[in-house]
This record gives sequence, structure tokens and C-alpha cells, in this order.
Amino acid sequence: MNALTDLKSLTSISEKWLGDHTRAVYPDALQELFPNGMMKAAQNEIASWKGYEPTQLRDLADVASTGGVASVVYKDESTRFGLGSFKALGGAYAVLKYLSDTLTEQLGRAVSIAEIRSGILAKEAAKITVTTATDGNHGRSVAWGAQMAGCRCRIYIHREVSKGREDAMAAFGAEIIRIDGDYDESVRLAAKDAAENNWQVISDTSYDGYLDVPRYVMAGYTVMVREILDEMREPPTHVIIQAGVGGLAAAICASFWAELGEKRPRFIVTESEHADCIIESMRQQKPSHVEVKEETIMAGLSCGEISLIAWEILSRGVSGVATLPDDAVAPAMRIMAAKDIEAGECAVPGIITLLAISKDAKMMEALSLDSNSRVLVFGCEGATDPELYRSIIEG
Ligand SMILES: Cc1ncc(COP(=O)(O)O)c(C=O)c1O
Repeated sequence: MNALTDLKSLTSISEKWLGDHTRAVYPDALQELFPNGMMKAAQNEIASWKGYEPTQLRDLADVASTGGVASVVYKDESTRFGLGSFKALGGAYAVLKYLSDTLTEQLGRAVSIAEIRSGILAKEAAKITVTTATDGNHGRSVAWGAQMAGCRCRIYIHREVSKGREDAMAAFGAEIIRIDGDYDESVRLAAKDAAENNWQVISDTSYDGYLDVPRYVMAGYTVMVREILDEMREPPTHVIIQAGVGGLAAAICASFWAELGEKRPRFIVTESEHADCIIESMRQQKPSHVEVKEETIMAGLSCGEISLIAWEILSRGVSGVATLPDDAVAPAMRIMAAKDIEAGECAVPGIITLLAISKDAKMMEALSLDSNSRVLVFGCEGATDPELYRSIIEG
């Protein structure tokens, strides 16, 4: 018996098939909200950073044959800038961009990110403080960005964040504030302290009145699309992508759409059944909130509220949304480890979702998935919490 066929099935998948609509060009409303020029600026900037290297695309031929599709490629973010996840691209870029915008205003002349990274403006940068609440990966990126920028950084973490993740952020010079409450409380405290002290919150989620910074975070993520299009001989026909607040999924969806127009791949979003704010938003046809009653093992996906920018993009651009139970995560991670691929808890939903869909002929047909399909999935993190990773792999 092929271990891949043992992976459990989906809890549910929305029936929001958008048909012809998905074949349109990148809509004007999205071009205004999340312009292609902003994505390209981020891609060019990040490609100039020290240590930049495209991450690998790995061919998962056995997953493709079990899933009944032509190919499955896995974008392996475990090596991204030594930070272990795609998140390295977003928070760090947003910090640098925020500093360049702020110092441009303060000094009354154009200040580039390259200038900030060079340290010429160290005195001015040191007067700025950035802050965020995080359960790990985003905070690591913000702390690294603050170190590159030479500004101060305060990171709020909740009681469940592991010591390993805390140490990784502190290693970049960030001041860490651990609270006794949960993630939402850490978000509230970071926002309150920021407002009282004139610090800037660098969040990966957006809401009414707070769009600029999360947009920069998302622009950073689109580096992955440039790398994928540079490397793949033919672009994917389908993308299956995991979501917490939806920033990652929306950034990738928008970037493919802006680049390929009506030839863009179909998008299937997949999220934890314990934090299913994307499918709930699709059902309600408006940005919606769900209560997270149980923490998923996929820590980065444990989000109860969709990002506003993500809603605008995903509600126009997605063919289906799946929710996943936790029980397939560890077996899928072990399957990847056996291939020598370091896939963390959040890295495997794409594979699990494809294999679950492949068991349902009607769903395959509804999503136009067949033996000609080229499927792209995102291995969005490696062992970002090495102790937890080891315990899962060793079973
Ligand atoms: C490793 C990993 N994958 C996926 C996600 C989900 O990204 P988003 O919240 O933008 O949907 C996160 C978010 O923290 C993450 O850390």
C-alpha cells in the first residue's frame, strides 16, 4: 500500500467554482489595491540582498502519479535566507520599506532601501522602533529586517510560543516580550504599546485603515512567483496553497494573475478546520471571523480572521477552498522527510489536499484537475521549531 494513499481526506471544500471569471485579466480593482509595480519593486530589492538565492522547486513524481495529475512541484522554502520559511521575504522587506518611506518624509528627499541597508543613516534609523505580535515566523523576519535596517525592534509573543522560536528572534537583537495570554492578547498589547510610544506595527494582516504595511509584506512574498516562472518551462495549471490570514495565498494568486493574465493557474486554498476563516468568508461573501477553539498543529495557519486585502483578492480569484484536519499532517511530514525534504507542519497541506481531492472524481472534474495538470504546492517552512519537528518525524 502506498503511504500517500493513506493520507486522510478533506473535511470540506467550498462549492464556489468561479468558472469563466478566473480566466479574466488581473482586474483593475486589484491592480489599484495591490499593483504589479509594487510586487516587482519588492522582487528586485530582495534579489539584491546578501545571501539571496532562489529556493528549490522539487519534483514530486510519486505524489503526481498517486494524485492522477501530470506533475507536482513543491516550492521548498526551508532554506530561505537561513530563516527556514517564506516569511523571511515579507516582514523584513516591510520593515525596510517602512524605514525608507519614513526617512524619505523626515529628510525631505528620496531615501532608498539600499541606502538604509548601507548604514549611512544609522543615527536616524536607530530612533525608529518597529513592533509586532507573532507566533514565530513573521516575528523572525521582522527582527531580521530591523537588524538590517538598524532600527529598534520589540516582539510580543504569547505563552505557547516555544523557547526555540523565542531564541531565534532574540538572536537578531529584538527585545522579546512574552505575555501570559494568547495570540490575540499579544496583538492587542503590541498595538496598545505602539500607539502609546509612537512605534510602528509591522503586521502581516490588514484591516480597514491599515493596508500599507501588510501590502509590503505580501509584495515580498511574490519573489517566489518570479522564481517559479523563471524556472518552470511551462507555468502550473493549478496552485494549491495554504492559508492563515490569507496573505500568502493572496500574494501568490495576485502575482500569477498579474503576470499571466487569463492564462493564470486555477487556485485552491487550503486551511485548518480549526481556523477556517477563509471558507467562512466565502460562505458569508464578506470578510468573516471564526473563533479558534482548538490550536492546530499547523501553528502558522491558526488564524481566526481573514486579512482584508486577502479577501479582496481571494474572493475574486479562487476556485475552491478546502479545510483540513490535523491528522494527516504528521504522516505527510514523515513522507517528505523520507525523501530528504525538510517539511515543517505548515508545509504539507498542499500535498494532502491534492491527494484528498484526487479521491473524488466530481471534485477533480469541477476543478479541471486531470492527467494533464501541472500542480504547484508550497513547502512554506522547514523545521522552524527544530524540537517539535524532530518529535513529529520520530513519531
Ligand atoms: C510557515 C507558514 N506557512 C503559512 C502561513 C500562512 O500565511 P498567511 O497567514 O499569510 O495566510 C504562515 C503564517 O504565519 C506561516 O508561518
